[in-house]
Formats: sequence, C-alpha cells, structure tokens
Amino acid sequence: MQSASKKSKTSLLARLTHSSLTKRSFNNGSDLLVWPVIVAHKLFAMTWYSNPSARDWRCDAPSDAVATFHQSLANYSYTPIIELPTIAAELGVARVFLKDESARLNLAAFKVLGASWAVAQALTSGTEPTSLSQVAEAIDRENPPTLIAATDGNHGRAVAHMAKQLGLACNIVIPRGVSDQAIANVRNEDAIVEVLDATYDEAVDRAKEITEQSTNGIHIQDMSWEGYVDIPQWIIDGYTTLCTEVDEQLRDIDAYPAELVAVPVGVGSFLHSVVAHYRSRTDSSPSVLSVEPEVADCVLQSLTTGELTSVDTGVTIMSGMNCGTPSSDSWPFHQAGVDAAVSLTDEQTREALKTLHALGVDAGPCGAATLAGVRAALNTDERRQALGIKSESVIVLLSTEGRAANPAT
Ligand SMILES: Cc1ncc(COP(=O)(O)O)c(C=O)c1O
Repeated sequence: MQSASKKSKTSLLARLTHSSLTKRSFNNGSDLLVWPVIVAHKLFAMTWYSNPSARDWRCDAPSDAVATFHQSLANYSYTPIIELPTIAAELGVARVFLKDESARLNLAAFKVLGASWAVAQALTSGTEPTSLSQVAEAIDRENPPTLIAATDGNHGRAVAHMAKQLGLACNIVIPRGVSDQAIANVRNEDAIVEVLDATYDEAVDRAKEITEQSTNGIHIQDMSWEGYVDIPQWIIDGYTTLCTEVDEQLRDIDAYPAELVAVPVGVGSFLHSVVAHYRSRTDSSPSVLSVEPEVADCVLQSLTTGELTSVDTGVTIMSGMNCGTPSSDSWPFHQAGVDAAVSLTDEQTREALKTLHALGVDAGPCGAATLAGVRAALNTDERRQALGIKSESVIVLLSTEGRAANPAT
C-alpha cells in the first residue's frame, strides 16, 4: 500500500509559479509566460472556492441496506434537528437547522455511522448484514480478527466501540494534537492505543504497518488510497443515514428541501457521502459547502489547483478535521459535486462555539465549524449568489460532534 504523495503548503507559491505559469507560443515563434486567472484567485482569495456547475452534476444513489442495519442497532434513534431562528435572522434567510450528532448511538460524534457499517461489511465479506448479531455469527472465533485504525479521535473511538461490542481486539493510532479527553474516550473502549508525535498521514501509515504485521488484522480506515477502497466506501455509505434522517426531519416540519448544506471536512469522506446523497436525488439538489481549518485545507487546495493535493497540517481546535490529504476515491466527488469551499481560523470557530453554547446547543469544534463556515460563505452578495441563497432559503448545518468528543481549549 502506498501513501499519497506529500506536497508542502508552505511551498504553494512556488508550486503555483511552476504549475500555473504557462508558456504561450506565438505565430512569430516568440514565447510569453502568462498567469492564468486561477493564480490571482489562489493568491488573493485562498480561503474561498466555488463551482457553479456542481448542483447540476448527478451520480448513482448509495445502497439503502445501511439504513436497515443501523435501525437494528441497540440505542439507534434519529439525532435531533434543532431550529436556530436567531441564526436565520443573522444570516438573512428563512430557516436554519442544526443536525446535532453529539449523542449518536451513545457516542459523541457521527463517525460511528460509518465505522459500524464498514466493520459489519468487512466481517461479512460485503454481504450487507441486517443486524449486529448476524455480523457476530460470521466471526471465526478460532482465528478472530483485530480491528486497526488511525484517528483524530472520533473514528478510532467508533471502531474501538464496534470491536468491543463484537468481542474483538483493537489497535488505534493517534497523531499529535488530539485532546486528552478524546484519547481517553478511545482507551475507554478497551483499545490498545498508540499516541504518536506525528501527523495524521503518518498515523495512517503506522496503522498500515500494524495491519501488515498482524496475523489477522483488518484496517478500518476512513480514507482511501490506491488499492484500498472497499472499506472507505462502506464508511461513506454508512454516513448516508445522517442525510436520510435530515431529509425526513425537514419534511416533517415543512422545511424540505434545504438550499444549502454545510459539511465539516477532514479527508473528505463525509463530504463525499453528502455529495453522493444529494447529487443522486431527483427532487432536490442543495448547494454543498465544504468547511475546513485553514491549517489543514487539503480539499480547498485540491479544488483550487484542480488536482489532489496534500498540505502540511498545523495545530487546530478542529482536531477531527486536521487531515493533510483528501481521500483519493472521494476527490472526484469533491471536484464534481461541491459548490463551494471555505477555510477557517480557530478564532472563527471559537466565535461559532460561543454562539451555539449560548443557544444551549452541545457542539464541539468540528460541529461548530459549519456555522463559522456559513458565516464566512454568506458574507458577500457574490458568494450568496454563487450558493443560490435567497431570503426564503433553508440552511442545514451538520454539527458532527459534541463537547464530550473534543472540548475546545
Ligand atoms: C467530528 C468530525 N467532523 C468531521 C470530520 C471530517 O470527516 P472526514 O475526515 O470524512 O472529512 C471528522 C473526522 O474525523 C470528525 O471527527
């Protein structure tokens, strides 16, 4: 297995100069170096990207077998959708809703939707089990597998939680920058935890190594790379339950369809899931907004440069989104189906956390990032137009974690 190539964000200008200065040859035989429009865009507006054709792009619908499986899980119920009228007034739209994943299946983040389905599919060779007991029956107890993952916190906790429920051993690798509470959350699921002074990409490499050295290890990673696609695709399919619930909840309160859905992004698997859900529908096609930390804006940089790009990551309170490389199989979905992308400072997200906590909403930094992202995305008429936002619009903020997952410090 190979990891994606790394490019330094600090050398972005140098890369722009090399990749974007194109040589024009003229009839008289002379050459001229010219700067295409994209260069100015990247140099002066690197925190914003938009693609006007994304809403018209269409793809196949994900399998609906995942809904049956999730509904069979103990503690499964729809997570709340919370209306925020003061935010709607602030943003100048009709209604704003926040999908609150702070207590999904008794964990503090949405990630278990993907991990549970991927573990279920991996242990049953992709036969779409309808319950966890069916998964448990498929395990060879003479030669039980070990589940392995790298994580910024939430995914690893979810994988460890599934391993514990199925009586399996679990190894989780954690990079730097993850809160003590998030690490303790993983340990409390009885996983063997390795905390590295390394980046997320390096933690993924270490998880690959553990898998290779293990006699019956299964790497359950929430990103794809060359030769590793089935498990991440099952994770993406698993996340679909969240959007299906949102649609039904909006219909129940006469607010369907939304015009804009804001998504917190790390490697972009969740973004892929949201795009696949909405771009496979015939009755609505909301704008999809990708929201990333400025210090880990690999999807924004990839969208802007038009090629899958890794960045050197920094430190951020949005630790679940602190990833340097977009998931390779998700990248084509980002490029075709994402309407706009923004990147945020921690300060912008802290403001959003303050607002949400004052309104009594339990959001961790990745959860609050979508409010900060929408604030940034709707702050000019041009951006509002690009996203199709009008005074009668409905906006959905996907708040993917609660404070128990990652207390901002
Ligand atoms: C709470 C939370 N939100 C958003 C994300 C981003 O998901 P993805 O890495 O698929 O882009 C993560 C990733 O771990 C997360 O933990």
